[in-house]
Amino acid sequence: MNKIIMILNGPNLNLLGQRETEVYGHKTLDDLKDICMKTVESSIFQIDFRQSNYEGELVQWVQECNNSNVAGLIINAGAYTHTSIALLDALKTQKTHIIELHLSNIYRREDYRSHSFISEAANGIICGLGSIGYQLAIEAIIKLNQEKTKDK
Ligand code: DQA
Repeated sequence: MNKIIMILNGPNLNLLGQRETEVYGHKTLDDLKDICMKTVESSIFQIDFRQSNYEGELVQWVQECNNSNVAGLIINAGAYTHTSIALLDALKTQKTHIIELHLSNIYRREDYRSHSFISEAANGIICGLGSIGYQLAIEAIIKLNQEKTKDK
């Protein structure tokens, strides 16, 4: 059990590859999904990779993570990072490992991006490493699960 790594992507991330490429790079969301799939290829973990432009849908998906099959949640909440108490509240209800992820370094950009509402609920944060961040976040979830098994 405990095999699914849920990866949630928020608003405008469907436009990766066309959107502000100087900030987010040239990889599309499908490219990121492929990278994630490859990262778990020879492991027991599976990726559930989703994107939505709707806050309520993201909240709903976060709530689904209390399912015992979910080994961890990686969330790039896009601009909802900086606005959404609803997402924070949803994340706080989750018992699974949570990694907050951003392609860009939100601390090197506009001031309004340097506050994240959701960090309070995250085990860890990865930002500024582009697509490498997705790989590292998956590796972190796998390691956190191994630690948990060792502790038992
Ligand atoms: C982002 C950073 C956010 O500030 C922004 O609104 C995004 C993408 C990132 O991945 O760098 O949409 O989460």
